[in-house]
Amino acid sequence: MSQPPAVIRVVNHPLLQHHLGRLRDESTSPAEFRSLVNRVAMLLGTAATESLTTKEATVMTPVADATVRQLNQRIGLVPILRAGLGLVDPLIELIPSAEVWHLGLFRDEATAEPVEYYRKLPETDPVDIALVVDPMLATGGSATLALDVLRQWGVPIVKLVVLIAAPEGIAAVQEQFPDVEIIAGAIDERLNEKKYIVPGLGDAGDRLFNTLR
Ligand code: PRP
Ligand code: URA
Repeated sequence: MSQPPAVIRVVNHPLLQHHLGRLRDESTSPAEFRSLVNRVAMLLGTAATESLTTKEATVMTPVADATVRQLNQRIGLVPILRAGLGLVDPLIELIPSAEVWHLGLFRDEATAEPVEYYRKLPETDPVDIALVVDPMLATGGSATLALDVLRQWGVPIVKLVVLIAAPEGIAAVQEQFPDVEIIAGAIDERLNEKKYIVPGLGDAGDRLFNTLR
């Protein structure tokens, strides 16, 4: 199956934009931050799954037969650890049949290059569609490494779901993976000298897991 040309889609739903605003606020506690990520992920997930396919089926209601639609694709969620874990529960809530395949990457503090430390993916039998989930798309190093892993696995349709994207990260994904759609809550201005997104929300993993030092 071939994918449509890559696009970045910003979900401008008012609820999403409201919750994203609270997420950005440095005074938001880790507990509230987790709830907000949950809500934003549900809204992003709804947008990211609009093109899933369904098949016709029949169920018996208490009254009569009803013709219904059922998902007919194997769907994989691929969180980029750590921070991507924050998006998994809300997306599994939306897609209970989804498979979750973990990929552990962290950015080297000096170079901002991704370092892989965990990969729980099979080598054969790829899912039909994978949603790579991570709150932040900054330089794009982590996302493009993840997309490369999924390409090696042979996944035909891949989407990248992020809360906030920087122009640099979008450009990196579009250059290397022109068939991958990015679904984002916002496109921010730029990266700073430490390769953090400006204005962004700071370190998503540390805020989610209360490990800010
Ligand atoms: C963050 C974020 C992305 C990555 C984005 O993770 O969750 O994975 O940085 O930056 P990039 O686009 O420049 O690669 P981080 O490396 O801080 O690890 P963590 O999730 O364990 O906190
Ligand atoms: N990772 C984060 O958590 N935040 C950024 O702004 C950039 C990378």
